[in-house]
Amino acid sequence: MSNLPPGMDPIATLDRAIADAPDKVAGASSLEDLERVESSLLGSESPVGQVRRSMGQLDDDLKPKVGAKLNEASSRIGHLMTTRRAELEAVEEERRLRDEAIDVTLESVRLPSGTLHLVQQTIDEICDIFVGLGYQVVGGPEAELAYYNFDALNTPATHPSRWEQDTMYLDWGAPEDELLLRTHTSPVQARWMENNEPPVYVVVPGRCYRKDTIDATHLPVFYQIEGLAVDENIQFSDLKGTLLHFAREFFGPQSEVRLRPHFFPFTEPSAELDVTCFNCDGGVPGCRVCGGAGWLELLGCGMVDPFVLETAGYDPEKVSGFAFGLGPERVAMARHGIDSLRHFIDNDIRFLSQFS
Ligand code: PHE
Repeated sequence: MSNLPPGMDPIATLDRAIADAPDKVAGASSLEDLERVESSLLGSESPVGQVRRSMGQLDDDLKPKVGAKLNEASSRIGHLMTTRRAELEAVEEERRLRDEAIDVTLESVRLPSGTLHLVQQTIDEICDIFVGLGYQVVGGPEAELAYYNFDALNTPATHPSRWEQDTMYLDWGAPEDELLLRTHTSPVQARWMENNEPPVYVVVPGRCYRKDTIDATHLPVFYQIEGLAVDENIQFSDLKGTLLHFAREFFGPQSEVRLRPHFFPFTEPSAELDVTCFNCDGGVPGCRVCGGAGWLELLGCGMVDPFVLETAGYDPEKVSGFAFGLGPERVAMARHGIDSLRHFIDNDIRFLSQFS
């Protein structure tokens, strides 16, 4: 319950508040300052506030007059506040824009972006060609059982490739599971056929290992891409046609292929496939790509040996197939005129960045 202090005239109090307000409001130099000015002008302890609180005790005949004056004071001071607040906000906004400005013209730090290794690019490109023919890309383990790497592929225990000087054996696992680092991707042929019914159309890119000393044409860790097609009535001509298609897609439409008889334990007949040199188109003496031979050796291939089909659980009377295995490093070397396999593992950015 609060009355106006004795002798205080409400109308005069409000008039004075209205008269004082413009200077006080204009004097506020920040938004916080303005808050304080507002409570000193309109807050409950301000003169206007005191008059508002005393309204109930006023004589009835005074009430309308004082009420009207009170409204006038509130609205005029309120209006001054609103105007000043907008001014101060604009000043504040400007200050922040100035202080927090970012120079968008500054050059950003750009990280150099790498590229896929040429061998990986080559693998992807070769697999894409076969995917285009309906083949599926599959994989298999690099640490392999001798059974899949050799036995299931008709490679007898006496075969020289099984000797320690060619194959890296792993001292791991049960003694009866002779474990090794696969020497080719062909074991995936046997693995895939064991677990999938014909027809089969797969390509298998992957890493292989042999006890070779690094030189221009040998790496102890290298890649192969295996191809396997098994279906009813697959013939030698399908093998040749498929590989001719591949050669033309990869090396250009003018390419021709030739097959030379060869031997692999798991194919019969077996062959090596050569492609005409894409650089000299067949026999320009001293060609930097083929050395004048006119042909590039591309891959090993053949018709899947019936023993391999049967061992994997297929019926060689019902289905037949062909397989091939190519080295993407070799193929990339041929295509780009690269003279040594060493370039692929040196990790010299000057070499690698040429193939982006
Ligand atoms: N696996 C053979 C090698 O490494 C290549 C090959 C694969 C040959 C498939 C014929 C069929 O030399």
